[in-house]
Amino acid sequence: MMKSSSTPSPYPRKTPRKTPRKPSKSKPTDPVEVFCRIRPLNDNEEDICVEVISNNTIQLNPPQNSQGFKSGHRVTATQHSFKQVFDEDSNQKSVFDTVALDIVHDLIHGKNGLIFAYGITGSGKTHTMTGEPSDGGLLPRGLDVLFNSIGGFQTKPCVFTPDKSNGVDVQGESDAKLDHDRKQKEMAVLASLGKNRGSDDDITDMVRVPDCSKFHDVDEDNGYAVFVSYVEIYNNFIYDLLEDAKQDLICPKAPVSKQLREDNNRNMYVQGVTEVEVKSTEEAYAMFWKGTTFRQELVKLDSQSSEKDMRNTETGKKVKDDVSKGLLRSLPYYGHQ
Ligand SMILES: Nc1ncnc2c1ncn2[C@@H]1O[C@H](COP(=O)(O)OP(=O)(O)O)[C@@H](O)[C@H]1O
Ligand SMILES: [Mg+2]
Repeated sequence: MMKSSSTPSPYPRKTPRKTPRKPSKSKPTDPVEVFCRIRPLNDNEEDICVEVISNNTIQLNPPQNSQGFKSGHRVTATQHSFKQVFDEDSNQKSVFDTVALDIVHDLIHGKNGLIFAYGITGSGKTHTMTGEPSDGGLLPRGLDVLFNSIGGFQTKPCVFTPDKSNGVDVQGESDAKLDHDRKQKEMAVLASLGKNRGSDDDITDMVRVPDCSKFHDVDEDNGYAVFVSYVEIYNNFIYDLLEDAKQDLICPKAPVSKQLREDNNRNMYVQGVTEVEVKSTEEAYAMFWKGTTFRQELVKLDSQSSEKDMRNTETGKKVKDDVSKGLLRSLPYYGHQ
């Protein structure tokens, strides 16, 4: 699990500019903090090879039944240090408070942040990021604290509108109201046609226990609006999981890959990605489940179609390796939550 944060924003127009690294006499602080969380063993797992040495060091001991151990190779234990180690008894709340709370605080004060989970299948990424409705992970808790804090300082819907290029436009409240009414009507039409990908009701209907933490130092002169987008980077393509594309239910086609671009402030963004304004954790989480449902559909689709079907959004040509690999390489972990 890792987190990283950057510098203050020239709110509200653009994502913060990257600040050039200043030569500093004091010891530089690492912008990326790496945490380690150990999950309990499953019933069919034996021989724990991870030993917690201190609250920031673990030791990996080669399992006695491993090939390496039996053959006499690589039998030495290795130690690894992290910002903090969470053992198998750690709970969701303490992980959130240590890993994510500061990042949410920074976000409210206009600083970018990133949290991602990295690990093999079954290591506990989904548990840590999403968790259960009764005991949420980093994502729902982060949203709770964000909305608990900005609560009364949120703008009316559609006052801020994404410009599709990593910035926002601002409009007056009467225009915003017209815009909002139009969007509501469009959504009603989509819902009646059954084309608006819904969320998984079984999951979203479960009673959720919210995180009650709140920051009290919100700048009351600001208006706050929260937008969510959800993309999956997979096989070098960027899928917009919130796009309400018209799907042919009889002969479904692979969705079109989005383009990764850099704005004037040299921040990367996915051009034209769907950004949905949300006013509560429930609304944000509904979008998360909607995207997750679509992601599951994509996996099915992937087994039916090949990469050859992918087309560039602008040229309509088949995509081979259209997106800068240098940029993509820095992002694939995003697909890992
Ligand atoms: N810290 C933990 N405490 C209890 N159960 C856990 C923990 N981490 C993971 N699990 C359980 O282990 C299994 C695999 O975890 P999961 O989050 O789905 O892994 P991943 O998303 O990395 O593939 C799930 O059944 C999950 O509930
Ligand atoms: Mg998972």
